[in-house]
Amino acid sequence: MRSSDFLSLKPLGGDELEDLLEEAMRLKNEGTKGQRPLSGKAVGLLFEKPSTRTRVSFEVAVLKLGGHPVVLSGAELQLGRGETVEDTGRVLSRYLDGLVVRTFGQDRLEALAAAADVPVINALTDLCHPCQALADMLTILEYKGTIRGLKLAYVGDGNNVAHSLMRAGTKLGLHVTVSTPPGREPLEEIVSECREYTTIYDSSLELLNDPMVGAADADVIYTDVWVSMGQDTGDESAVASEFARFRVDEKMVAAAGTDVIVMHCLPAHRGQEITDEVIDGSRSAVWDQAENRLHAQVALLAMIYG
Ligand code: CP
Ligand code: NVA
Repeated sequence: MRSSDFLSLKPLGGDELEDLLEEAMRLKNEGTKGQRPLSGKAVGLLFEKPSTRTRVSFEVAVLKLGGHPVVLSGAELQLGRGETVEDTGRVLSRYLDGLVVRTFGQDRLEALAAAADVPVINALTDLCHPCQALADMLTILEYKGTIRGLKLAYVGDGNNVAHSLMRAGTKLGLHVTVSTPPGREPLEEIVSECREYTTIYDSSLELLNDPMVGAADADVIYTDVWVSMGQDTGDESAVASEFARFRVDEKMVAAAGTDVIVMHCLPAHRGQEITDEVIDGSRSAVWDQAENRLHAQVALLAMIYG
């Protein structure tokens, strides 16, 4: 990985993450004020899966820093007709100054990044969603004034969003519980990596199959869709029964701390992983969380191109 790539949170130290969040907070409060590190530069936004927040917030973030975003849908490129990711990365590097990429396997992203001569940023893979976790940590910091020592209860499928939350949380001193249905646990490789961070950064990580135990006394309850992009088997009723106990509802919120905030990366499937009452209720931080995608990514781009 090139040092200016941002393919996952794995290479970042806790102190680097803290600096990035501090800069995001500053840029959110003060604005970018004539900061134009992307002046004269074009950044490609290459999406092989749908996106509302990530695509639009990156497009605006590039504009705010003086650059020109070039939105590319995988299906409309020759990539959609079988051109390799390596050849795509090589060629696009000749025109662009950076690439923000949403794709399937992390290996596909890494192959593209290895062939590209410009910084590549992960806009979600099946393995992780690091830009989401930056915005999530910024939101917790904003609402709570601190991250260290808090309890974050993730409830749902133990995949990409959970993986990045685990990495960010255990590097920033959070106590993270991940409650999933049996068989939906996060990848063992990420779990053991994060267990190492817990010893370095004085944090903790607990995997559970009981969401009410996970949510007890939590400062933050976090959920994600039950079926991720590209993973729909078409058997909705099997998914609904597998995840039935994992819906974030008022009962679960009542089991948490009195000042709990509820987070969701969105898009939400209202009535499935979260009820209307909770997402629209007084504990919901989801709209500020969605806004923070923009501020976190402005800070990330400013760091890479500054
Ligand atoms: N949270 C998130 O990544 O949303 P989009 O899929 O809309 O980009
Ligand atoms: N886990 C979800 C996250 C969407 C932002 C997915 O991959 O579809």
